[in-house]
Amino acid sequence: MSAGRRVLIPGGTGGVGEGVVRACLAAGAQVVVPTRSERRAAEFRRILGAAASDRLQVVVHDYTTLEGAERLVAGLGEPLDDVVAPIGGYWGGRPLQAIDAADRQRVFALVLGPVRTRSAGDAPPGWISADLIGEVAVAVSASAEPGREIRLPDSAAAAKVLDLLRGRG
Ligand SMILES: NC(=O)c1ccc[n+]([C@@H]2O[C@H](COP(=O)([O-])OP(=O)(O)OC[C@H]3O[C@@H](n4cnc5c(N)ncnc54)[C@H](OP(=O)(O)O)[C@@H]3O)[C@@H](O)[C@H]2O)c1
Repeated sequence: MSAGRRVLIPGGTGGVGEGVVRACLAAGAQVVVPTRSERRAAEFRRILGAAASDRLQVVVHDYTTLEGAERLVAGLGEPLDDVVAPIGGYWGGRPLQAIDAADRQRVFALVLGPVRTRSAGDAPPGWISADLIGEVAVAVSASAEPGREIRLPDSAAAAKVLDLLRGRG
């Protein structure tokens, strides 16, 4: 992901999402984070503090139905370059890569082990951090890799993936 790219991060207010949002902002991207409530929007801005630059747009919108998601994207105006979706909970449908509409884009599924989020600060060092997940999302976007599943069980695996994506592996 390079400076100026426009990325939508549904689930960005969450523990994993925080790391993705921070990494995308640090990479210079324009970041749009939808959230289902004003309360969560305000809380998230407080959590980010100075990292919540003017390149961050937090939009209160229910995107949890297909119609809601379509309205969200239509209302954004400018086209999106990337979507990273660390959304809470499990979805009982097909894997994301198998969604028919996805064949026009590269789609990656980052399969996570337990994550060191802001609410699991004293987790073992081997757990992957939300910040590292963000780095992988940025590196995936910047790479020419075809879409696929990427397994990230722990921080060592994530470091190897990052080396490969950055052409050092
Ligand atoms: N944390 C871990 O250790 C871990 C490990 C492996 C996999 N994962 C996966 O990573 C993803 C994110 O986990 P997380 O720990 O960051 O979760 P989280 O802190 O609960 O955050 C999830 C975010 O998703 C949004 N969301 C949208 N629709 C939702 C719905 N129907 N129900 C609940 N939340 C919804 C919420 O945003 P708003 O409330 O602002 O709308 C929330 O901030 C999940 O799919 C989880 O299974 C997490």
